[in-house]
Amino acid sequence: MEKIIINGGHILRGEVTISGAKNAAVAIIPAVMLSDGICRIENIPCISDVNAIIRILYDLGASIKVIDKSTVEIDPSHINSFVLPSSMTSGMRASSYFIGAMLGRFKKARVAPPGGCDFGVRPIDQHIKGFEALGAKVIIDNGMVDARAETLTGSSIFLDKVSVGATVNIMLAAVKATGLTIIENSAKEPHIVDLANFLNSMGANIMGAGTDVIKIRGVKTLHGTTYSIIPDQIEAGTYMIAAVATKGEVLVKNVIPKHLESITAKLIETGALIEEFDDSIMIRSNPNRPKSCSVLTMPHPSFPTDMQPQMTTLLAIADGVSTVTEGVWDNRFRYVDQLTLMGAKIKVDGRFAVVTGVEMLSSAPVHASDLRAGAAMIIAGLVANGTTEVDNIEYIDRGYEDIVEKLGALGADIKRVRTADSNLRKAAL
Ligand code: EPZ
Repeated sequence: MEKIIINGGHILRGEVTISGAKNAAVAIIPAVMLSDGICRIENIPCISDVNAIIRILYDLGASIKVIDKSTVEIDPSHINSFVLPSSMTSGMRASSYFIGAMLGRFKKARVAPPGGCDFGVRPIDQHIKGFEALGAKVIIDNGMVDARAETLTGSSIFLDKVSVGATVNIMLAAVKATGLTIIENSAKEPHIVDLANFLNSMGANIMGAGTDVIKIRGVKTLHGTTYSIIPDQIEAGTYMIAAVATKGEVLVKNVIPKHLESITAKLIETGALIEEFDDSIMIRSNPNRPKSCSVLTMPHPSFPTDMQPQMTTLLAIADGVSTVTEGVWDNRFRYVDQLTLMGAKIKVDGRFAVVTGVEMLSSAPVHASDLRAGAAMIIAGLVANGTTEVDNIEYIDRGYEDIVEKLGALGADIKRVRTADSNLRKAAL
């Protein structure tokens, strides 16, 4: 195993370049399966979730040409399987997108339930509602989601809950269906728009992505394309918070400022000084402690749930009492126990947390309980007195490309080390 070791108290200064968006990449790569030709995808983040999704396509029969660290060419023409066993899906949530993609291509899919970070129940009833509206028969058979359709016919689907995954999956299943599909109450995240733009670059006919009504007029074929993935607004927001927490001054490059609006607005509330440019943001901390504030996470364009642990960590050292309400997931405060070990004063009741800011956190051995919680532990380590060790960092590697290198270049005293048990295991092999 590996862990990250941070000696806190260093101010972050300089420039950081943001990588491609994880949640766009894990939706766009399965969508390649719908194409008749080769797709060149650029600005792909080099993170384990994306590498795993690319590996699934390879195992299904696609040919993959790695051009460089962030560019691949995928030829899906030889994909010959519509079955995805749990050995290929248990690691992440996005494997569920292969149900929609396989339905769209083969009109059948047999996919083991997805994995993903544990925030409580993560159902796919809205995904299934969409597939059935299009004419598919969906059963859970021997632990597998089995979806089959004679034909897929456009339909109107009103999502009971705003769901990124259901919106993605229904788009993938509908893009080559016969007729018009309307998804109402659809998710509006930047990665939904990016997927729609990718599919349209292949010849799809999708309108309204980014609003809560998406219209998809089915087409017979989709051709190959070249497409560059949008920058990751959650990675960008994470570095913005790290800069403010360490009283630093950082230019965050390769961003789309509009995607960061709710994060920028909330950080300005805490007293941060922010200047926006075309594709970068300069963020400076004010000389005093961050101001307390209230945070409510909700679907885009509200403050994103995937920024909740990072924001709570900043508020843990703010001046005053803040509140954080988790509007999307049932149980996304599991990391608070770890912050408490570092001296944070946070009371959690279900989806609601009261954060009483303290002057300083103190280092402790902590672990990442999920991807964004891991990023929060790193931010806590950057500001804490002493040496913080963060374990379970495989969660962090799922969503942050080169986080140790990027923070080190900004002045953090941070390193990744192999732990004894990994050496023991190596010796035993
Ligand atoms: C996506 O998860 C993201 N993952 C998550 O990011 C993110 O937290 C989430 O969207 C919300 O923005 C990927 O894009 C790979 P949802 P997803 O369907 O699609 C309920 C990260 O850190 N729901 O939008 O699984 C669900 O329980 C990860 O990058 C149903 O009830 O989220 C939740 O309460 C973590 N039935 C709410 O909707 C369904 O069929 C939103 O879930 C589907 C969802």
